[in-house]
Amino acid sequence: MSAPTICLGPTAQNLEHCAELLKSGELVAIPTETVYGLAGNALDENAVRKIFEVKGRPLIDPLICHFDSLKTASAHVEVNQAAKKLAATYWPGALTLVLNKRSSIPDIVTAGLESAAIRVPAHPVLRKLLKLLEFPLAAPSANPFGYVSPTLAEHVERTLGNKLKAILDAGSCDFGVESTIVDLRDQSQPTVLRHGPVSIEELSKNLGKEIIDATHSRDDTANQSAPGLLTQHYSPSARVVLHGHGECPMIVPSNEATVFNQKPVDPSLPKNAFWLSENGDNTTIAHNLFEFMQRLDQQQYTTLHFELSDGTGIGKAINDRLTRAAAK
Ligand code: TXA
Ligand code: MG
Repeated sequence: MSAPTICLGPTAQNLEHCAELLKSGELVAIPTETVYGLAGNALDENAVRKIFEVKGRPLIDPLICHFDSLKTASAHVEVNQAAKKLAATYWPGALTLVLNKRSSIPDIVTAGLESAAIRVPAHPVLRKLLKLLEFPLAAPSANPFGYVSPTLAEHVERTLGNKLKAILDAGSCDFGVESTIVDLRDQSQPTVLRHGPVSIEELSKNLGKEIIDATHSRDDTANQSAPGLLTQHYSPSARVVLHGHGECPMIVPSNEATVFNQKPVDPSLPKNAFWLSENGDNTTIAHNLFEFMQRLDQQQYTTLHFELSDGTGIGKAINDRLTRAAAK
């Protein structure tokens, strides 16, 4: 007989069960509108330590704290005017703010930094869960460190299932790529640390300021001034090769796969040709990106050829994740 599944549908009873696990210091994998997260009580050092252990993540790579509202968050971080402005527009949603932290957030969450990354997520199931708790949830993406982020409960089950008691299963994640991270500690210089669903252009318009793009100035020694935004990340086991937008050839060998942005017009498509959208829409491409990486990585392919996006809107996040997946 196979083991009982740990993937639990989002019923009221299962939400209660997951809340009880979290209250007792256990971890639960949670759905968010970006990717699945591996959650524990952010105020409980032991629970947070388990997150690092289960993921195999170095302790120098700080975690994001998830709150049910800006008001709750303001007890744990110093909320400035710029943060209020962005929160009013984008929360609940796929935007993470880095702000100066208060002492209530344990050092292990922030890898000893004086700042904390926080977000108020929009996923309705996660919002219900947060309402049952009196603490924020620290949650990195629920993948083994360095592997592709999960956008389905089954991705979490396959890679971390033997280390978890529960995965709250709410189907596939809307955006499919992780939140945009913006450092607002210095309000005069808002700085994007990671591309995501909210673009730099939108942030700039909202704040009426130029936004610094620090997404390329990552330091792989991942010390405390440049926390763990490592160059190689999101990597499937198969080799990833990138091709320019509109310049991706149809790959012939059957042990290699080609993944286009949109369905090629070629009437006789080989079995190893895939496409992330029908018509090249970046929102759909982002939604499907990690799901295809995960799925094709389970098949016989030794090399995955990906076409880069046109880089507009969420396309910057798509190209960022593809570039990291290809960096070995
Ligand atoms: O969409 C998301 O953000 C997902 C879902 C689960 O919320 N979470 C996520 O977490 O992507 P994670 O741990 O995979 O990525 C968090 C990133 C890390 O690269 C970390 O270095 C950065 O956030 N980070 C965390 N705290 C920081 C801080 N105080 N300063 C700068 N960067 C920080
Ligand atoms: Mg991650």
